[in-house]
Amino acid sequence: MKKQFENNRQLIFYFLKGSKAYFILAILFAAAASLFDLINPRIISFTVDSIIGSKEAGLPAFFKGFIQGIGGIAYLKSHIYFVGVFVVIVALIGALFRYLFRLFNSKGAEKFVKVMRDGLFEHIVHLPFAWFTHNPTGDIIQRCTSDVETIKRFLSEQLTQMLRIVIMIALSLYFMSTISTKMMLAAAIFIPIIVTYSLFFHKRIGETFEKADEEEGILSSIAQENLTGVRVVRAFGRERYERQRFESQNTIYTKAFMKLDILITWFWSIGDGISGLQLLTIAGLGAYFAVKKEITAGDYIAFVSYNTMLVWPIRSLGRVISDMSRANVSIDRIRYIMNSEEEVDDKDAIEVDMHGDIVFDHVSFRYNEDSPLVLDDVSFIIKKGTTLGILGGTGSGKSTLMYLLDHLYDVSSGHISINGVDIQHINRDYLRKNIGLVLQEPYLFSKSIEENIAIGIPTATRDDVEEASKIASLNEAINHFKNGYKTSVGERGVTLSGGQKQRTAIAQMVIRKTPIMIFDDSLSAVDSETDAKIRKALDENIHDATVILISHRITTLMQADQIIVLNKGKVAQVGNHQQLRSQEGIYRKICDIQNIGEDIS
Ligand SMILES: Nc1ncnc2c1ncn2[C@@H]1O[C@H](COP(=O)(O)OP(=O)(O)O)[C@@H](O)[C@H]1O
Ligand SMILES: [Mg+2]
Repeated sequence: MKKQFENNRQLIFYFLKGSKAYFILAILFAAAASLFDLINPRIISFTVDSIIGSKEAGLPAFFKGFIQGIGGIAYLKSHIYFVGVFVVIVALIGALFRYLFRLFNSKGAEKFVKVMRDGLFEHIVHLPFAWFTHNPTGDIIQRCTSDVETIKRFLSEQLTQMLRIVIMIALSLYFMSTISTKMMLAAAIFIPIIVTYSLFFHKRIGETFEKADEEEGILSSIAQENLTGVRVVRAFGRERYERQRFESQNTIYTKAFMKLDILITWFWSIGDGISGLQLLTIAGLGAYFAVKKEITAGDYIAFVSYNTMLVWPIRSLGRVISDMSRANVSIDRIRYIMNSEEEVDDKDAIEVDMHGDIVFDHVSFRYNEDSPLVLDDVSFIIKKGTTLGILGGTGSGKSTLMYLLDHLYDVSSGHISINGVDIQHINRDYLRKNIGLVLQEPYLFSKSIEENIAIGIPTATRDDVEEASKIASLNEAINHFKNGYKTSVGERGVTLSGGQKQRTAIAQMVIRKTPIMIFDDSLSAVDSETDAKIRKALDENIHDATVILISHRITTLMQADQIIVLNKGKVAQVGNHQQLRSQEGIYRKICDIQNIGEDIS
C-alpha cells in the first residue's frame, strides 16, 4: 500500500518537495525587506534629534563607527543631503528584497502546483476502475484544478502573507519598544481588537460569499440548460415558465450579492473607524509624552511612522486567517484522492500464455457491498481458440462479465482463470494488453483517426492501420474523408457517426492481434450487412484468437461455437445455435422475434 496521509500538514509537506527552499528564501527576504522598511524612521528621528537638534545619539555601535568614518556628526550637519541619499539607498535595498521575496514566492508557488498536479494525475491513473464509478468526473476535475489553485493561493499568498505580517508586527513592536515601552503597549492593545473584529467580519463575509456563489451557480446552470436545451424549451412552449424560473433565481442571486456588499461596507467603515482611533490615540499620547520630554521630537516622528506601518498588516491579518481556514476544505478534498488506494498486483503476479481455456467458475459479483448481485453463480468454459456468443437483455450483466475478465473489478466470489491461472495472479498490465476489448460505448481521443487506431502501439505502420481498418469495414469511409487517415476526430469523436466510431474501435482492437478478443455489442450501430461483412473478415484474420461476441442480434452470434444466454445475472441456457434453437426458452423466443427460421444457420 502506498503512503497514507493522516492529516493535511503531511499532505502539504509531501507536495512541498522541490519548492520548500523557494518558500524559505521568500520568507527570509520578506523579513529582510521589513527590517529595511523599519530602518528609515530611525534615520529620520536621528536626523531630527542629533543632526538638526543637538542630542547625543544612542546609536548601535556599527552605525556610530560608520558615522565616525565619514567625518562625524559635524560633517553630517553641513552635508545634510547625505542623509537623504542614505534614506533612498535603504528604501532601494528594501524594494530589492521585496522583489526577491515576490520572485521566490512565485517560483515556489509554480513549482508546488506542478508537483501537486503531477502527483495527483500519477495517482489518479493508477486508481482502480471501480473508483471512477463512485466518483463523478466533474468532481475529480474540480479537485485537480480549483482545489489545487486554492492550495497554491494558500501557500503562496496566505501563508507567506501571514508570516510576513507576523514578522512585520514583531519587528515594528520591537522598534517601537526601543523608543518607548509604554507607547508600544498602547499601540499593541489595539492589535487583538482589530484582529478579532476583522476575523469576525471575514467569517461572515466568507459565508455570505459562498452562498452568493452557490446562487450564481444555480443561475448559470438555468441559463446553460436553456441555451443547450433551447429546442426542447421551444418545442414544448416552456419559454414563459423558464423565464420566470430565471427571473426568480436572478432576484435571489441579486439579493445575496447585495447582502455581501452591505457587509463589506460595514467592514470597511468600522475598520477605518478603529484604525483611525488607534492612530489618533498614539498621536495624542506621543504628543503628550513629547511635551513632557519623555521622548524626543525625532522619536515622536519615528513612532508615528511605525504605528502607521502597522495598520495594514494588522487589518489584513484577520482576512488572511479566515481565508486560510477555507483552504482546509480543499486540502481535505485532495487528501481524499491521494488516500484512495491504487491498483496493485500481487507481489508474485505472473504472465501466462493467454492462448488457453478461459474458465468462469461460480462467479458472483456486485458493484457495491450493499447493492444486489449483478452476476449470480456464473460458470462456463471457453475452449482456447473458439468463439463464445453471449445473448442477454440490457442489464443482464454482459458487460460486467467482460469487465471482470479484464480484471477491472475483482469478483465478489468464485474464480476466473485463463490457461489454468486465476487472473488474480496475472499481472494486470499484461492481462489487459492481451485482451482486446471493444467497448459498447467506444471513446475516441481528439486525435487523428490513424492515431486513434494505433493508440499505444508506437511501432504500428500505416499499412497495419489500413489493414485493420479494412477488416473493420472502415477503410472505405475513411477514404471518403478529405484528409483520410489524418482526419481529426473532434472532441469526443463528434465528427464520426456512431457506426464509424464502433468500427474505429474494432480496428483499434484488430491491429493489436490480441489472443483474446471481446466485442461488447460492438456491431449494434452498423447495419446487418456490414455486421456480416465485418464478421467474415474477422473470421479470416483472427486465426487462433479466442473470441467473445456480445450481441442482441441472433445473426451476429449464431455461428459461434458456443452461446450462453444470460438472464438477470444468471446463465439461463448454454449450447450452440442448433441446440438452443430447438429448445424451449429465451433463445428460441428471440429467434422468433427476429424472424430467424429453423433453416437459417
Ligand atoms: N458502475 C456500476 N455501478 C453500479 N451498478 C452498475 C454499474 N454498471 C452496471 N451496473 C448495473 O449492473 C447491471 C448489469 O449491467 P451491465 O453489465 O452493463 O449489463 P449489460 O451489459 O448486459 O447491459 C445493471 O443492472 C446495471 O445497472
Ligand atoms: Mg453492456
